Amino acid sequence: MKVLVTGGAGYIGSVVAQQLLRADHEVIVLDDLSKGHADAVLPGATWHQGGLAEAAEVLDPSVDAVIHLAAKSLVGESVEHPERYWHGNIVASLGLLDAMRDAGVQRMVFSSTAAVYGNPITETIVEDHPAAPINPYGASKLAIDHMLTAEAKAHGLAAVSLRYFNVGGASDGLGERHDPETHLIPNLLKAAAGRGGTAKLFGTDYPTPDGTAVRDYIHILDLAAAHLQAMEWVRPGTHEIFNLGTGVGSSVRQVIDAVERVTGRTVPVEEHPRRAGDPATLVASGQKARDVLGWAPQHTLEDIIRDAWAHL
Ligand SMILES: NC(=O)c1ccc[n+]([C@@H]2O[C@H](COP(=O)([O-])OP(=O)(O)OC[C@H]3O[C@@H](n4cnc5c(N)ncnc54)[C@H](O)[C@@H]3O)[C@@H](O)[C@H]2O)c1
Repeated sequence: MKVLVTGGAGYIGSVVAQQLLRADHEVIVLDDLSKGHADAVLPGATWHQGGLAEAAEVLDPSVDAVIHLAAKSLVGESVEHPERYWHGNIVASLGLLDAMRDAGVQRMVFSSTAAVYGNPITETIVEDHPAAPINPYGASKLAIDHMLTAEAKAHGLAAVSLRYFNVGGASDGLGERHDPETHLIPNLLKAAAGRGGTAKLFGTDYPTPDGTAVRDYIHILDLAAAHLQAMEWVRPGTHEIFNLGTGVGSSVRQVIDAVERVTGRTVPVEEHPRRAGDPATLVASGQKARDVLGWAPQHTLEDIIRDAWAHL
């Protein structure tokens, strides 16, 4: 297939593009480099540096599918500057949908997020768990999910939203280079390597077995595989949502222990109070993706840490 990957110079988009190329798909990358890195776009891809507003320039009827990862994704920034998220995520995605409709491109896989669920009311989150985002980032992603549902119904779009939980790891030279880095594993690894000062542990009094927050970590290669499977699976006129997680949670302390085991280094950690808006536990049921897409994560938390450490 010929696939447009928006945000293809970013962490997840670059690995999705890499896996598409390896599966012999043709790849166009659209990225404005607001966060991404030009050297993350592989030579096999056609590279268009530009914003989502320029999607019409790269879409034509020969494009079979769009994998839409370009977004602003910092929770804290979204609270302080919500307008950036309404414009950068909602309005920009509407423009992309308009361009797809005009060009007759009818397949879309979208990066949604666990943040749409807000504070979970069940330990394991299934897709029909109430969506009640507690920050503008999650709200902007939920608005796009609603947009896709209506677009599928009204105009026959074949759409899938993949709701990621915590993603980590690296793939052949492509890994996390966020600035600022808000994710736990790269920050622990930087601290272990002596490059990031002391790692911060937020919250030691959660109602979890060791008092620290529990999250569901998934390897970037398992996540990328789900995109390829979803792109093949999508059905015209429908919008399906899949949670991508392993169903198993790890606490922050368990992740720190795993980082120390894998790297053989001690992680300097300082304890802080809970951060506002951080739920105690976020674990996905990946059952629907397993049943419908035939998706099965292959990698462990140790694999994620080992590959991210090699990339550091
Ligand atoms: N990393 C995670 O753990 C995680 C979890 C849940 C959801 N997501 C979602 O996955 C997607 C990718 O995340 P990531 O971690 O790779 O982030 P990232 O910041 O590394 O990648 C996003 C890319 O999109 C580009 N971009 C942003 N706005 C753009 C615009 N308007 N036009 C063109 N390009 C634009 C950026 O330059 C960047 O290269 C995002 O949509 C994010 O919300 C990520």
